[in-house]
Amino acid sequence: MKEKIDALHAEMHEVAKELTNDELLERFRITYLSRKGRIAQLFEDLKHVPAEQKPALGKALNALRGEAQALLDAATEASRQTDRTEIPAVDLTLPGRGYARGHMHIVSQTIEEISGIFRQMGFSIADGPEVETDYYNFEALNFPADHPARDMQDTFFITENDLLRTHTTPVQIRLMERYRPPIRAIFPGKVYRNEVISARSHVQFHQIDGLFVDTDVTFADLKGTLVTFANMYYGEELRYRFRPSFFPFTEPSAEMDISCYLCEGRGCRVCKHTGWLEILGCGMVDPNVYSFVDIDPEVYSGYAFGIGIERTAMLRHGIDDIRLLFENDLRVNHQFN
Ligand code: DAH
Repeated sequence: MKEKIDALHAEMHEVAKELTNDELLERFRITYLSRKGRIAQLFEDLKHVPAEQKPALGKALNALRGEAQALLDAATEASRQTDRTEIPAVDLTLPGRGYARGHMHIVSQTIEEISGIFRQMGFSIADGPEVETDYYNFEALNFPADHPARDMQDTFFITENDLLRTHTTPVQIRLMERYRPPIRAIFPGKVYRNEVISARSHVQFHQIDGLFVDTDVTFADLKGTLVTFANMYYGEELRYRFRPSFFPFTEPSAEMDISCYLCEGRGCRVCKHTGWLEILGCGMVDPNVYSFVDIDPEVYSGYAFGIGIERTAMLRHGIDDIRLLFENDLRVNHQFN
């Protein structure tokens, strides 16, 4: 019996050296430690040995079982360690990789901010097609047939009759065709002009036009709305003025100037030494325009205005070249996040 224990002891130690995977570990457990295993078998044999040998042999068998368990535990632990080193090491103390977070382009931000101000004043948002017809872009807006803006120099014509809209103003015709007053909406969007690209002008830019038509709308309403807008967008302290101007679709027409934010009116490079910055065009809707959309100018009146988005963003942020807004140079874009 003693020899059998010693032999099993030696054998277990040999086998334990090779326990390199889960299958071998399990086989070791079954062979030596299970209820029908080799050690259990020796405990069975113990019943048949003379009584005086039982205590010593029993002790030796218990030790053998303890040792088998210890060998199994050690081999299990060792194989787990090996598994772990096969996974590529992760250094949990390294700082994480940051994700670059996107943000709106300065042109979109400007559209959002201006739209937000007019929304608060009860304007809804409308839009229209960028490919327009001569009728909506010019004729129904009371441009005479020989107006220079219809010239190939300024307008991208697609066919004789279709063109890329040169302003967002045609949306007012589409609105007045479709809805009856009261109409109060702004329409932001892209516009196109056949111009030489320079620091001051581009072939593609954005505008927001606005229209309010109802009974008893006056020039005072126009001023109240646009001054409120200018105060909310450019600040409470600014001074402003309305200068007479001309647009075919408004009568009377005006342009609104604000005091130069940079020199506060004293005169500088940005305001070309006038102390004033032009921020928008506006006027009362010309009765001729109503005749195209079947609205009675004896009953209704209204005002309209148009704001250049790039120009607005450039004034507000002191950007001196419109091309910077279209080149998507991240060094520029990221300054406006
Ligand atoms: N459409 C004009 C332009 O592109 C801007 C403008 C002026 C729009 C007066 C208007 C307005 O609605 O009333 O220069």
